[in-house]
Amino acid sequence: MKSKISILVTGANGQLGRELQTIASLHPEFTFLFLTRNDFDITVESWVNKRILDTRPDVVINAAAYTNVEKAEEEQAEAEAGNTLAPGYLAHACKEAGSMLIHVSTDYVFNGNQRQPYVESDEPSPLNVYGKTKLKGERRVDAEMNRYFILRTSWLYSLHGHNFYKTMLRLAKEHGKLRVVNDQIATPTYARILAQDILTLIRKKLIEEQPIPYGLYHYTHEGEASWFDFAEAIMTLNQLSVPVEPVASSAFPTKAIRPHYSKLNIAHWATSTGIATLTWQEALRHCVSDGAK
Ligand SMILES: NC(=O)c1ccc[n+]([C@@H]2O[C@H](COP(=O)([O-])OP(=O)(O)OC[C@H]3O[C@@H](n4cnc5c(N)ncnc54)[C@H](OP(=O)(O)O)[C@@H]3O)[C@@H](O)[C@H]2O)c1
Repeated sequence: MKSKISILVTGANGQLGRELQTIASLHPEFTFLFLTRNDFDITVESWVNKRILDTRPDVVINAAAYTNVEKAEEEQAEAEAGNTLAPGYLAHACKEAGSMLIHVSTDYVFNGNQRQPYVESDEPSPLNVYGKTKLKGERRVDAEMNRYFILRTSWLYSLHGHNFYKTMLRLAKEHGKLRVVNDQIATPTYARILAQDILTLIRKKLIEEQPIPYGLYHYTHEGEASWFDFAEAIMTLNQLSVPVEPVASSAFPTKAIRPHYSKLNIAHWATSTGIATLTWQEALRHCVSDGAK
């Protein structure tokens, strides 16, 4: 049994990266090396190899990605570099260094034609460049190594960075009313709770040596929502009496096509890890109260 686990985090200034930084001091069982894009560009293969082989962390959490779903339609090479090639470089280096890899992927690997929550064995069929590059990234990781956890999540939000939660609060203040699409359904996921659960997973796997199988997991909170439902709940919990009008996706034409239904079934995660799950409404309450601190 190992007592102190070293963790290298890429993309430390993103939503997930910043949440990991926020909670790091609560976890004396880990030592962290947080690396931003300036410190460590994961698309430079030689850099990835050198840094990981020099530091040989017990775990690499890849919180870096090309995440602009709209721009990816035009910047295909950049999206491919960040979401496909880079996870492959990381996985290769992790294998050489004996590090475990935690990589994060997306519900947008699915096309949304299904009417029941997606399980890990469902066939992916991404509709947009972002989803395609993320799916290829998962496959690169799998081709390179075995000691990985890939967590597919959906609709990440937090008090930092660019996300729907912050955008709704800003638009509510600017316009006093909101129009929000009600025909895309998934599960909003609070990045701080994802960060906590990733650290719990590492503790259970590497310190307690629980037999949690490596591989692909769907990770979100419980329940499902449309963006409209999510916006209404954000207004209510922030005590803003702003009218929210439901509209069809066609009211906001976008370059990237999004799935209409991409709810993930999280049973494999819940039963394999034993980590308690919250409803998305409970998680949202945590976010609102974290913002008030
Ligand atoms: N956001 C969502 O709704 C959502 C949904 C499902 C899955 N995910 C996945 O969840 C993970 C975390 O997402 P997030 O929302 O935390 O992302 P985020 O806030 O956009 O953060 C991504 C971070 O990665 C950094 N980065 C980009 N390219 C890089 C590179 N080449 N080398 C090093 N760092 C690089 C970015 O730096 P710059 O800011 O300097 O570019 C940014 O700090 C990602 O894998 C994402 O695909 C996100």
